[in-house]
Amino acid sequence: MTRHAIITGASRGIGRAIALGLAGRDYDLALNDIAAQDAALKQTAEEVRGLGRRCVTILGDVSKLDDCRGVAAEAVSGLGHVDVLVNNAGILRIAMIEDLTPEIWDQTMAVNGRGVFQMTQALLPHLKERRYGRIVNIASLAARTGGPGQSHYAASKSAVVGFTRVSSMEFGQYGITVNAVCPGIIVTEMGMNNLRDPERVAHFEKVTDLHRLGQPEDVVGPVAFFASDDSAFVTGQALNVDGGIFYS
Ligand SMILES: NC(=O)c1ccc[n+]([C@@H]2O[C@H](COP(=O)([O-])OP(=O)(O)OC[C@H]3O[C@@H](n4cnc5c(N)ncnc54)[C@H](O)[C@@H]3O)[C@@H](O)[C@H]2O)c1
Repeated sequence: MTRHAIITGASRGIGRAIALGLAGRDYDLALNDIAAQDAALKQTAEEVRGLGRRCVTILGDVSKLDDCRGVAAEAVSGLGHVDVLVNNAGILRIAMIEDLTPEIWDQTMAVNGRGVFQMTQALLPHLKERRYGRIVNIASLAARTGGPGQSHYAASKSAVVGFTRVSSMEFGQYGITVNAVCPGIIVTEMGMNNLRDPERVAHFEKVTDLHRLGQPEDVVGPVAFFASDDSAFVTGQALNVDGGIFYS
C-alpha cells in the first residue's frame, strides 16, 4: 500500500535523503522548505518523481503557525491524505554562551522547537480522524551531549525529545506513534559547522565506533522504520543514529 508523507526542510541534506529514501520505499511525498530554497526543493521533487512517486512541493517557514497550517492543508489536498510527518527542518547558528543573543536563542527555538510543535498540531486533526499516523522528529546527538557553541541548539533538540515523549502519550490512543532520531555528525551543509577543521574531522572519526562520519543516507533507514508499520508497537523513543559516538 502506498503511504503518504510530509517532510519538512526537504530540499537538501538529511531531508532530501529521507525524501529519496521514502520514495524508494513506495511513499508519495509532500516536500516543504523555505522560499529561499525553492529551486533546490523543486530539484529534489523532480528526483522523487523520477523514482515513479507523486510529489508536491509546499513552501513555508515552520516557525510560522500559519505556514504550518498551510503546509498540512496543502499536503492533504495535494496527496489526498497524509500518513506520516517527518519534522526535519532545523537550523544551527554557532555561538558561545558569552556571545549568544536573545535573537539567536529565539530563532533557534522557533524553528527547531516550535516548528515541530506547530507542524504536529497542524496535522493532528487529520491523523486523529484517520486513526493512523507516524510522526518522526529529527532531534540530534546535541540533545544528549551538545558541544561548545551549541547550547541553544542542544536546548532546542532536548525540547524535541521531550515533545516526542509527551506526543506519544497524548496520541497513542488515536493509533499515532511518535518517535525521534538523534543523528550524530552527518556531512551536510549544517554538519560542516563541525567539520571545517581537519583536526575536528579526525577527532570525530576517532571517537565514533564505526570510525567514520555519517552521510545523510545513514539517517534514512531508522526514519523509514519509524515511518512504517514495522514499528507499530514502538512509540515515544529517541534513537541515536551516530555510528556509536555517544557512548564511546
Ligand atoms: N548534519 C548534522 O550533523 C545533524 C546532526 C544532528 C541533527 N541534525 C538535524 O537534521 C535536520 C536536517 O539537518 P541537515 O544537516 O540536513 O541541515 P541542512 O542545513 O543541510 O538542511 C536543513 C533544511 O531545513 C530547511 N529549513 C531551515 N529553516 C526552516 C524553516 N524555518 N522552515 C522550513 N525549512 C527550514 C533548510 O532550508 C534546509 O533545507 C535538522 O533538524 C538538524 O538539526 C543534523
